[in-house]
Amino acid sequence: MVNLVEKCIYVLSVIYTVPREYKIGGHTAAPNSIRYLVSLKSTSGQHFCGGSLVHRYWVLTAAHCNIGAEQMMIVAGDYKVNIFEGTEQYAKPRILVIHPLYNRSTNNADIMLIKLRAPMVLNKYVSLAPLPRQGTGVAEGHVCRVSGWGYNSLEGGQVPVTLRTVTVPIVSTARCNSSDSFNGNITANMICAGYSTGGKDACKGDSGGPLVCDRRIYGVVSWGNGCGDAKFPGVYTAVSRFRRWIDQTIYENMTNT
Ligand SMILES: *[C@@H]1O[C@H](CO)[C@@H](O)[C@H](O)[C@H]1NC(C)=O
Ligand SMILES: *[C@@H]1O[C@H](CO)[C@@H](O)[C@H](O)[C@H]1NC(C)=O
Ligand SMILES: *[C@@H]1O[C@H](CO)[C@@H](O)[C@H](O)[C@H]1NC(C)=O
Repeated sequence: MVNLVEKCIYVLSVIYTVPREYKIGGHTAAPNSIRYLVSLKSTSGQHFCGGSLVHRYWVLTAAHCNIGAEQMMIVAGDYKVNIFEGTEQYAKPRILVIHPLYNRSTNNADIMLIKLRAPMVLNKYVSLAPLPRQGTGVAEGHVCRVSGWGYNSLEGGQVPVTLRTVTVPIVSTARCNSSDSFNGNITANMICAGYSTGGKDACKGDSGGPLVCDRRIYGVVSWGNGCGDAKFPGVYTAVSRFRRWIDQTIYENMTNT
């Protein structure tokens, strides 16, 4: 691919700017191969973030994907995000639950649960995402997979955007937090993944989507410094730190339909 690194010049949390970016590296995923992945769309139909279906009524995503419940539509069973394929299911959010520790200046605890107004139907195109147990980690170098529809539409043009996926190895917190990289800005609620040579990364529009290791959602695409930069891996919310919060939130809102 052409070098898109320079063009993708800001943190993943910038989701309002003109969408331009492809996922850096990687390739197109097979149709409906990642069935728990959902697209968060604005009411005008513009994809702006990814998410994972963790319960028929609940989507896991990043807190910085919060544009307001009224502005959002959740689409499951999507493949080409800008065209109707007949496999999609649509739901409006009923409530958004942002983690109480979320801090938008540090990106700490960048995690949000969305309860849907109506449950998604599980079928050949839609499934639930398996989560890691509370407190479990992934070793440095372990290869995980990040997927999403990271933007490639051209200023309002309706180019069909196909789901893309890349593999990335886990980078130790020590290295990611070192003065050679994010220099103290990595909290215990974050994990990093990327190649020391750069080139493959999540990017804008992938925010909120899953980083999958051993078939479980260990990360939620959160932020970075550019995309595909060798010095700066992608930073993900460490889902295993929030497993208890996820279960508790779903349980507490069981009857709140
Ligand atoms: C976010 O973190 C910064 C830096 O640690 C801190 O100064 C600020 O008070 C925090 N904001 C909230 C809302 O917790
Ligand atoms: C770390 O955070 C500080 C304060 O938010 C910021 O000025 C600095 O550029 C960040 N450094 C890196 C490498 O991200
Ligand atoms: C990252 O470095 C900062 C500054 O040294 C430190 O306060 C923080 O605890 C470190 N993060 C982790 C997860 O160890």
